[in-house]
Amino acid sequence: MQAAALALRQGDLVILPTETVYGLGADAANPEAIAKIYEAKGRPRFNPLIAHVADAETARRLALFDGRADRLAEMFWPGPLTLVLPIRPGGGVCDLARAGLETVAVRAPAHALAQAVLSAFGGAVAAPSANRSGRPSPTTYGDAMLETGFAAAAALDGGACAVGLESTVVSLLPGEPPRLLRPGGVTRDQLQALVGALETAEGDAKRSPGRMALHYAPEAPVRLNRPGPEPGEAFLAFGPSRMDGEHGLNLSPSGDLREAAANLFAYLRAADRLKPTAIAVAPIPKDGLGEAINDRLARAAGFIG
Ligand code: TXA
Ligand code: MG
Repeated sequence: MQAAALALRQGDLVILPTETVYGLGADAANPEAIAKIYEAKGRPRFNPLIAHVADAETARRLALFDGRADRLAEMFWPGPLTLVLPIRPGGGVCDLARAGLETVAVRAPAHALAQAVLSAFGGAVAAPSANRSGRPSPTTYGDAMLETGFAAAAALDGGACAVGLESTVVSLLPGEPPRLLRPGGVTRDQLQALVGALETAEGDAKRSPGRMALHYAPEAPVRLNRPGPEPGEAFLAFGPSRMDGEHGLNLSPSGDLREAAANLFAYLRAADRLKPTAIAVAPIPKDGLGEAINDRLARAAGFIG
């Protein structure tokens, strides 16, 4: 953890476990370090990054919180929620990390190792998911190392990610209703209880430029809402099923959405390694965490731009 904090101070990259997915982190105030992230990911420059901090107090040095942001941070931090807020002038997240926007995305992750590194470092760590651009987010240390480990000066093994889906992203901008930019580990219902109705910014490229088609795509084509596999296809089942096949790829045999979320990316990768003609996926309910799971699946299938 000390080595990771030192690497961040020196402008190097770090593989960082969080409760959602593994991140590839750099000092958010150091544009040269941020450039290394884009380079390692092969990511287009216009994708803004999330600034990770130990707690709300540190986040308030970077961004302007209103009452809604206070309530959400109080309830869900540390945890899988990212708030897009106006930047605090002189706040220190560099232009490159924000892709030039006047807003900044901030999140306090719950994973104990992430917390330890962020506390030791003291500042904000800009970190996208540690995958190469256009590939599924890594939810294990091994997958993170395979994707971008070559670019990191330090890497921490925090085990399998408990949530397994990226954080929920909500924008809270002055004079605007709260907007759900990306569904994730904290559900719409949980948020609406605290800040009222959420608008959905589907396909609004300017507000959340990271939401491109094929963002989460494996190599094989993905076919959704399938009752079972065609010959040559891999199959991701959900709930009680006779279709698990010899590889047993069932996102949750008991039909538990939380378990399915935690398994999603690792199972997409496992299915892809079988080199199937396609990956067929069973229907997944759309309520609660199911909104985020279906969003990621639609992206993997190339349906949402
Ligand atoms: O769970 C997560 O959020 C993981 C872990 C590592 O924390 N991180 C992650 O980062 O998923 P990334 O870069 O893959 O996704 C960040 C998302 C993108 O969709 C990006 O466009 C959006 O957050 N975002 C970042 N800053 C933004 C801003 N200022 N305005 C609107 N959207 C923003
Ligand atoms: Mg990502």
